[in-house]
Amino acid sequence: MDSQNIYILGIESSCDDTSASVLRNGRILSNVVAGQTVHKEYGGVVPELASRAHQQNIVPVVHQALKKAGIDKSQLNAIAFTRGPGLMGSLLVGTSFAKSMAMGLGIPLIEVNHMQAHILAHFIDEPGFDKPEFPFLAMTISGGHTQIVRVNGYFDLEILGETIDDAVGEAFDKSGKILGLGYPAGPEIDKRAKLGNPKAYKFSKPKVDGLNFSFSGLKTGILYFIQDETKKNPHFIQENLNDICASIQHTIIEILMDKIKLASKQTGITQIAIGGGVSANSGIREALKNGEETYGWKTFIPKFEYTTDNAAMIAIVGYLKYLEKDFAKVSVVASARLRF
Ligand code: KG4
Ligand code: ZN
Repeated sequence: MDSQNIYILGIESSCDDTSASVLRNGRILSNVVAGQTVHKEYGGVVPELASRAHQQNIVPVVHQALKKAGIDKSQLNAIAFTRGPGLMGSLLVGTSFAKSMAMGLGIPLIEVNHMQAHILAHFIDEPGFDKPEFPFLAMTISGGHTQIVRVNGYFDLEILGETIDDAVGEAFDKSGKILGLGYPAGPEIDKRAKLGNPKAYKFSKPKVDGLNFSFSGLKTGILYFIQDETKKNPHFIQENLNDICASIQHTIIEILMDKIKLASKQTGITQIAIGGGVSANSGIREALKNGEETYGWKTFIPKFEYTTDNAAMIAIVGYLKYLEKDFAKVSVVASARLRF
């Protein structure tokens, strides 16, 4: 081990991406992600298939991450892994792998909360990317979660609001399913939305108090709308797909923006970060950025590769915890519903 540098291996396997990343101090040396295509034909992640694919991918993915980083496993100082939240079978693969590798190398093991990692990804050293100062607001928008979090410190996070039903990523994916798009539909809706009219169709927004969200009503509204229109014109979807996508995306962005504006007003905090798979969306990125001029916000939008699930975000939390000597016991277990 060279004494000046801290090398952390991060491992992420909470859902359907197997990822490994090597970090030196605050910088990412490699971030390898193996997606899983087996779920496409089912229109959603099949847990049993996901854990099997993780088992196949984990060894080559870790190997590649070390190779790309140009280091040997004997140089690692610690191994950080996603303990939860996520799919149990998927989490178990990464957890068991991280435990045995750390034990084999005789180095510390560090547990990481996946949602916290989506937020702390903003602390990766990246040229051209500023880091937020505490306190800031983080809106975590992914396939499994939708939260507004007040971040007082690296390990002092407070959930101010969250979804009471579907996550925003599910709103994209389930709308996509209704439209006959592949899984996950978020990226395709985003692409098509750029070519369509966001005001072509109007969908009603949910009325949820405070900083909580709801997306299940929107999905039902879209379903009924599409059923009605295709009764009148069987080619309605094909003929208007870009406009439909643009209108759905526009509604989702308004729902998110209404809540983050309210959170900023209530807390007086004007530093706003986003994270999670849906933060890859070009519309939400633009809307948030516009808030800089309109509301005087300072916004933090992650580098594209740190938006959807990745191990770089696990490695940075591992590094921050390593500095605090916050290590996990070998008896630590994966937790599908882990909270922070
Ligand atoms: O964070 P993530 O990779 O996994 C979870 O922890 O859930 O998020 C995946 C979600 C999916 O629902 C996917 O459709 C959505 O992120 N997503 C997008 C875009 N890219 C990924 N949604 C809208 N626009 C995108 N460009
Ligand atoms: Zn995620």
